[in-house]
Amino acid sequence: MSLAIVRTVRDLRNRVDVWRRAGRTIGVVPTMGALHAGHISLVETALARTDHVIVTLFVNPKQFNNPADLAAYPRTEADDAAKLSPLGVDVLFAPDGEEMYGTGFSTSVSVSGVSEGLCGAHRPGHFDGVATVVTKLLLQSGADFAFFGEKDFQQLQVVRRLVSDLNIPVEIIGCPTVREEDGLALSSRNVRLSAEERGIAPRLAKILFTAAERLEAGGPVEAILEASRRALSDAGFDTVEYLELRDSETLRPVERLDRPARLLAAAWLGATRLIDNVPVGAQGILQSGGIT
Ligand code: PAJ
Repeated sequence: MSLAIVRTVRDLRNRVDVWRRAGRTIGVVPTMGALHAGHISLVETALARTDHVIVTLFVNPKQFNNPADLAAYPRTEADDAAKLSPLGVDVLFAPDGEEMYGTGFSTSVSVSGVSEGLCGAHRPGHFDGVATVVTKLLLQSGADFAFFGEKDFQQLQVVRRLVSDLNIPVEIIGCPTVREEDGLALSSRNVRLSAEERGIAPRLAKILFTAAERLEAGGPVEAILEASRRALSDAGFDTVEYLELRDSETLRPVERLDRPARLLAAAWLGATRLIDNVPVGAQGILQSGGIT
């Protein structure tokens, strides 16, 4: 079956109803387009796990706290559709702003706790925008499974929380971060890096992986975090917004490595903000018998 480009919630629901009546399972992959291999890996996972796959494409103005970032965000719908079509995706749901946020739209979904700190502290309103649009996309598609990347680890935890709190009948599947050969996490914003910045960018992942190893070896948490922040500045990052060790589920700060944790960072290279994160500790804890 060929890829259908769908613009309205009504059309989407009609198609989903047909699949539902035939007893088929449905997967949704929410995106803002400019699709790269990271997005495609989510789509492949969805195709392997469900009978019908919907990819959504909506550059959600509510989650951009910076108007220049929204204006500069790449919009490549025709290319995106051409990438999805041969894979066997059923629907590209690409509504316009009016369809998503019509006249009088007044509702906001706000998740406390996991939304606070990290990106939440540096991008006011961002996670309310994400939570609101993801809630809508999950309810519009009625999917059984929804696929999100660990690349945006805090976002993944925000989505898990809202689905659980609001009893949305969908299972959230977290998918591993896809990286360039030099370690840089794929991102739609990487195209904005100059050649010089592109040379520096992979240091973010390297510094995180090195810090994770040192933490797993039992090194002192605060000293390792501080040294890693300095290493980012020394590597040429202009502003280091945060580099923190957090509980992988609650995202609360971790002072001792006694449960699975995540090391997360955000730093600027010129006008581009990069984020990345790596797992820490599960291995060491398993070896010491700390998790049953
Ligand atoms: P976007 O940045 O387009 O990302 C869409 C999905 O792709 C997210 O789940 C993101 O985590 C995942 N992704 C991005 N880069 C990845 C990589 N290198 N490896 C694996 N997965 C990756 O995230 C959003 O859009 C929006 O906030 C959205 C959830 C669509 C709500 O508007």
